[in-house]
Amino acid sequence: MRLIKILLTLCCYSLNVNAQQATITILDSSHKASLRGLSVVDDNVLWVSGSSGSVARSMDGGKTFEWITVPGYEKRDFRDIEAFDANTAIIMGIAEPAVILKTKDGGKSWYKVFEDSTKGMFLDAMSFDREKGAVVGDPINHHAFIAVSEDGGEHWTPIPADTLQEGEAFFASSGTNNTLFFYTGEQHAKPFFAFASGGTASNFYFFGPAAHTADKRKLPIIQGKESTGANSLDYNKKNGFVVVGGDFANDKDTTLNCVLSHDMGTTWIHPHTPPHGYRSCVIYITNNQLITCGTSGVDISNDGGMNWQLVSNQSFHVVQKAKKGNAVFLAGSRGKIARLSGY
Ligand SMILES: *[C@@H]1O[C@H](CO)[C@@H](O)[C@H](O)[C@H]1NC(C)=O
Ligand SMILES: *[C@@H]1O[C@H](CO)[C@@H](O)[C@H](O)[C@H]1NC(C)=O
Repeated sequence: MRLIKILLTLCCYSLNVNAQQATITILDSSHKASLRGLSVVDDNVLWVSGSSGSVARSMDGGKTFEWITVPGYEKRDFRDIEAFDANTAIIMGIAEPAVILKTKDGGKSWYKVFEDSTKGMFLDAMSFDREKGAVVGDPINHHAFIAVSEDGGEHWTPIPADTLQEGEAFFASSGTNNTLFFYTGEQHAKPFFAFASGGTASNFYFFGPAAHTADKRKLPIIQGKESTGANSLDYNKKNGFVVVGGDFANDKDTTLNCVLSHDMGTTWIHPHTPPHGYRSCVIYITNNQLITCGTSGVDISNDGGMNWQLVSNQSFHVVQKAKKGNAVFLAGSRGKIARLSGY
């Protein structure tokens, strides 16, 4: 009798595990904008941004979205967004001129907090940990562009290029799809930020608290062509860094498309089962569970990034988790916004 009970329990347990299948539900695809910016405040409030000056906000966990076109920026691609609450967000317009706009009234009006019309100026990525953040741009005259903010993007201070280590060679290999990760850690921890470059060479840069010197390390991720390299990184204290990328011109290729580091980027390892193709975004959901997405699908790992399981063949550019809460959302081309469930 007892044995049967145990067997039954085991059987039901495994059924339960199988039944718990991660699924992706499309919430909105009514707009044609290509969406690359996504920021999730909590389980109800999320913001997205993308091409044609598009920004959308949901206050009900994605049931409904309010879409706006930022006045005066109808042709701009807002590649990144950081939302601080239901009313406050900043958006990053990459180039010509590079611009960062902020709203405090839920997207009704926007004001400029940063602008740079230098020729060749191209903002790659923006990353925040609470009020502190950084933005990084392509090198101009072989000098990296990095600016930091301490006040939720209200003010930006460029880090003078000549204080950045290595001068000429620094960032010289930078290309497209660069990515940035900013971390202030726990209360007394020192902030740092890390940067991974894509393109013909892929490197990992680690900036200490002063952000004046960077450790540069070669990333053992696919590289050598414009379409290859690192695209996204995330970090947590338990598992360390995870970086994804691949070859977006060959988006089902799984060759060297993911690397992990448990020692702050000193050494890198490859997963046993890599994500199933080119991936443009990766995040930790919990200490051990991760999700990554790209044009050829979405994968989840339940073991800190060592093994990845394909959960969807659908294309997405970006995935984000609620800063306060558990909801996970995705966004992509053709205005597609989705929610993950069953994870
Ligand atoms: C990566 O860069 C290429 C070339 O600029 C671009 O076509 C592609 O859309 C970018 N991918 C992402 C995810 O930003
Ligand atoms: C993805 O596509 C392949 C090939 O068409 C199919 O065999 C597989 O079941 C699909 N996987 C998912 C998770 O949809």
